Amino acid sequence: VTCNSTEKAFIGKNPAKRLPQAIIFGVRKAGTRALLEFLGLHPDIVVNVVEQHFFSNDVNYSKGLEYYREQMPASYEQQITIEKTPKYFIDIMAPERIYRMNHSVKLILILRDPVVRLFSDYAQLVAKNKENNITYPPLEEMVLDENGEVNLDYKLVQVSVYYKHIIHWLEFFDLHQIHIVDGDKLIIDPYYEIYEAEKFLGVGHKIQRDIFFFNKTKGFYCVRQCTSSTSPPCLGETKGRQHPPVDKKLVEKLRTFFEDKNEKFFQLIHRSFNWTT
Ligand code: A3P
Repeated sequence: VTCNSTEKAFIGKNPAKRLPQAIIFGVRKAGTRALLEFLGLHPDIVVNVVEQHFFSNDVNYSKGLEYYREQMPASYEQQITIEKTPKYFIDIMAPERIYRMNHSVKLILILRDPVVRLFSDYAQLVAKNKENNITYPPLEEMVLDENGEVNLDYKLVQVSVYYKHIIHWLEFFDLHQIHIVDGDKLIIDPYYEIYEAEKFLGVGHKIQRDIFFFNKTKGFYCVRQCTSSTSPPCLGETKGRQHPPVDKKLVEKLRTFFEDKNEKFFQLIHRSFNWTT
């Protein structure tokens, strides 16, 4: 059941590169890669492993949809193609551009507690700077302004204010067109979230629970290897980084800061999350 059901080896009709019928458009550091990789296990789903930054980059966008289509992996008629670029979520032009490509496209948004997302983003910046022998400033210095208030000019804070971004998407798309994945849940129960996504995408239920196993060393769920699979069982080292130790008071401050912003977001998406711990 585990491997056979997800076997992609059978031949379908009319292999061709197709525009994506579904797009994972954010949020950065919420588990976008895990979601894409896991969905890619489905025999009727083909994923683009490279973030295209097509709708969020004027130079790429000016190359036109034919260029974008060329970037897609080949698929058979019965398969759907998924692209993911987390930047789309915060890009002011992306919703309208995606709407123009296909107004009935299926949109997937994976979310994570915005405070934890911020820490994850910060951990990534620290790590990336370290690669270039640069010491990135302490979190407190970046996240607070000179008055000790949360610094809204800090990009990492801005990204986590979800309601400000989703507003632009709701100008073009109905809520029912946007499937929300709980990124915190994807970490502890990938099967459930993938099952929900399969339903949304209208592909049959093929990704079984036992394809996932918890890898103690990695500290995350990984995927059992199937003979035809070429990808490693676990996501790479850049996924699942240790977060910086953060002063309790700072955590509190951030929690308070995000409270009303999260509330606004919940009202817009008609759903709420327990982002308090
Ligand atoms: P951390 O590195 O902060 O733990 P993205 O792919 O959008 O950059 O998100 C990265 C996050 O995906 C990781 O953040 C990690 O918590 C989360 N994640 C979810 N499922 C995972 C899995 N099975 N393996 C590794 N990371 C996973």
